Amino acid sequence: MTLMGKVAIITGGTSGIGLATAEALSAQGVRLVLHGRRQEILEAHAARLPGCEVLAGDVCDKDTPGRLIALALERFGRVDIAFANAGLIHSGPVDAIDLDALSEMIRVNIDAAFRFAYTAVRHFKAEGGGHLLMTGSVFGTKVRPNAGGYAATKYAVEALCEALRIELAGSGVKVSVVEPGLVRTDLHRDHAVRPEVVQNIPQPLLPEDVARAVVFALEQPAHVLVPRIMVLPAVQPV
Ligand SMILES: NC(=O)c1ccc[n+]([C@@H]2O[C@H](COP(=O)([O-])OP(=O)(O)OC[C@H]3O[C@@H](n4cnc5c(N)ncnc54)[C@H](OP(=O)(O)O)[C@@H]3O)[C@@H](O)[C@H]2O)c1
Repeated sequence: MTLMGKVAIITGGTSGIGLATAEALSAQGVRLVLHGRRQEILEAHAARLPGCEVLAGDVCDKDTPGRLIALALERFGRVDIAFANAGLIHSGPVDAIDLDALSEMIRVNIDAAFRFAYTAVRHFKAEGGGHLLMTGSVFGTKVRPNAGGYAATKYAVEALCEALRIELAGSGVKVSVVEPGLVRTDLHRDHAVRPEVVQNIPQPLLPEDVARAVVFALEQPAHVLVPRIMVLPAVQPV
């Protein structure tokens, strides 16, 4: 199915998986609304990607999802794809983990992602179609020590996607969750030791590897749904 002319909203569009997906979709003729906090970076993406609008701000702001839908409708007249991708990781051992940082992660990875997801699927349901994708993680299907909070946020994303998929079956609204393994992005920028070293993964995924999986899920014909798609580095021992 061609994606040409469709309109996608992507949160976490400044860098990493969100940006690579924006670039892959743009190459297929998809028009974009990108969100993230770093306004100058968003504007630089908009300057080089045709048909790209941006909105800068905190994804936790309650009015962000509504503003993103309104912007897409105002500039492009439609929304076909909503990619709830913004997220962060905070992990650490029991005695050292920063509980305020943990709370912030929960706000971004769950609160904000859920608000965006519900706002998008309400719009899609009213329109009779659309595709919600959420970025989960392989750690939304299993846990590892020190990262129980992060895994819990991604288990929450899995649960929401599964329930929405069942609730919306037959409505024309598709719901998919993307479950990457380790990807070389800015996600682990605050970690003293690179995760590929700690986890012994010499060749992590690149953001474009995940973007290809997102495009695959989106390209399926109307009667086909890819509810979940896991993409791992071939050497990741999970
Ligand atoms: N990298 C991995 O190994 C991996 C594996 C599995 C799943 N994931 C998931 O993939 C998703 C994208 O992460 P990434 O790996 O691509 O890392 P990234 O390059 O750091 O991207 C994170 C994105 O989220 C945005 N963001 C974070 N907090 C925000 C906030 N409060 N308000 C608005 N935007 C916010 C960032 O934008 P600004 O900084 O401009 O605000 C950025 O665009 C996340 O959900 C992550 O959990 C990553």
